[in-house]
Amino acid sequence: MDFFDVVHTQRSIRRFKPDPVPEEALWKMLDAAIRAPSGSNLQPWIWLVVRDQTKREVLAQTVRARFDSGGRLEQMRQRAQKMEDASQRRMLLRAADFFANVAQAPVLIIPCLVGVTSPTADARSLLAGSSIYGAVQNLMLAARAQGLGTVLTTFQASIEDVLRKEFHLPEGAVPVCIVPVGYPDGQRFGPTTRKPPEAVTHWDDWGALKARA
Ligand SMILES: Cc1cc2nc3c(=O)[nH]c(=O)nc-3n(C[C@H](O)[C@H](O)[C@H](O)COP(=O)(O)O)c2cc1C
Repeated sequence: MDFFDVVHTQRSIRRFKPDPVPEEALWKMLDAAIRAPSGSNLQPWIWLVVRDQTKREVLAQTVRARFDSGGRLEQMRQRAQKMEDASQRRMLLRAADFFANVAQAPVLIIPCLVGVTSPTADARSLLAGSSIYGAVQNLMLAARAQGLGTVLTTFQASIEDVLRKEFHLPEGAVPVCIVPVGYPDGQRFGPTTRKPPEAVTHWDDWGALKARA
């Protein structure tokens, strides 16, 4: 696939077929991920690849219990129903459906920051994230290029205690997101909907806009 076609059509996929993901495809994704820059080239990451169904079920049950017990999934669905923008409504409904069964994705990748010291040693800061989220994007683009769907999710924060216990994370490892991977089920890849670059670019001074030639 052409690079720009990959970038323009890499969008969040939240419904997955149960079909297994070939291991070679996962290695290609990981090999693309680790090509990304990081502060001082420390490459402060471990990529936890979870295929084991029992472990995925443990995570799914935890998410369901924590999200459902506070009525959060129902609140998400109700908030979605009130949305005027159809694509926003679909997005939120799909996000709620995915949270209701995280284990439907045949693979969950949990990128972890490990031993980060550049540009900061505070692994839980925004700045530390700059040493790994670029790699996460590479991972997702490499998935798209192979016909695989992903979505960057941040529910790891709600289940970090269970992640630590289930996968024996050492103290210094911080999960930064969870990326489900699988073949899309009834959901198409992009094109993505975004504000155009002209609307979000200022040239030489804040507020100075320029039409595209
Ligand atoms: C920091 C961040 C956190 C996100 N968290 C979630 C999440 O927890 N659950 C989810 O379904 N999508 C999540 N997303 C995906 C966004 O909702 C999605 O990228 C955005 O709506 C654009 O949609 P598209 O990727 O389909 O173009 C997250 C994306 C980012 C960058």
